[in-house]
Amino acid sequence: MGGGIAQVVAASGRRVSLHDEVPGAVERGVAAMERSLTKLAEKGGPDPAEVLERVTPVDGLVPADLMIEAVVEDAGVKKAIFQAADGILPAEAILASNTSSIPITTLAAATGRPDRVIGMHFFNPVPVLKLVEVIRAVQTSDETTTAIVELAGDLGKVAAEARDFPGFISNRILMPFVNEAAHALMEGVAEPEAIDTIAKLGFAHPMGPLALADLIGLDTCVSIMEVLHEGLGDPKYAPCPLLRQYVQAGRLGRKTGRGFYKY
Ligand code: CAA
Repeated sequence: MGGGIAQVVAASGRRVSLHDEVPGAVERGVAAMERSLTKLAEKGGPDPAEVLERVTPVDGLVPADLMIEAVVEDAGVKKAIFQAADGILPAEAILASNTSSIPITTLAAATGRPDRVIGMHFFNPVPVLKLVEVIRAVQTSDETTTAIVELAGDLGKVAAEARDFPGFISNRILMPFVNEAAHALMEGVAEPEAIDTIAKLGFAHPMGPLALADLIGLDTCVSIMEVLHEGLGDPKYAPCPLLRQYVQAGRLGRKTGRGFYKY
């Protein structure tokens, strides 16, 4: 998602520094940006070369007005990044997380500027989907929230504000839907295609819950469900055993070529 976020920020005229610890990840992100920008240019979007010129791959955290962190859904990894960013970005900079479930309040508490820490949660594919879920930690100031809501508007997105409770708004609603679809499959109620067809043609969703889980990543879905389960304490949020089994088998969805479907 980092590449998608970099793309929409650069397309708004801002300069972006892009960093990923994983070897090859920045290159893959830039290649995805090229493909996406080419598609968008055919429909009147900005010149891909001009947008890409504003994106600079960097070797680590660098000073900036805003950081948008989009690493793996692991609270420890995210906390370490927020602590490091607090020492490198100027004191007035805002530190945002694209997390889908990790409490923003704990990330804010890891820094010396908790009022300038916020959740800025984009949706996949970032260049296409219009939503940014803006999550206020307990400590987040009104000024920070206003700045991020305005930025979302500048990126051509619509912000929906949420308080910092497990799963925020989006995943509190989406993950039980995905999980129930996995239970239906596990219990043999229907084949994956039938389950997804119900959602596509019956509820007018662009894709069914199993195909969507493959897009999000089954490991990410399980991580989010664990946060919901632990944070809200209700067994209804426990990840379906079939989802866990697929993750154990390395069937993580599109990114590994196999999840509920083969790619
Ligand atoms: N960049 C630019 N354009 C893109 C693109 C990208 N990355 N991906 C797709 N498009 C364009 C296509 O070119 C196509 O354009 P035209 O209509 O002009 O031809 C259009 O979007 C539709 O794409 P497709 O024809 O390939 O297929 P589609 O109609 O099925 O749309 C989809 C694909 C946009 C992914 C759509 O299926 C969709 O919106 N699915 C639901 C996605 C969703 O729910 N995402 C949220 C996931 S939850 C999350 O991200 C956060 C979390 O916390 C877990």
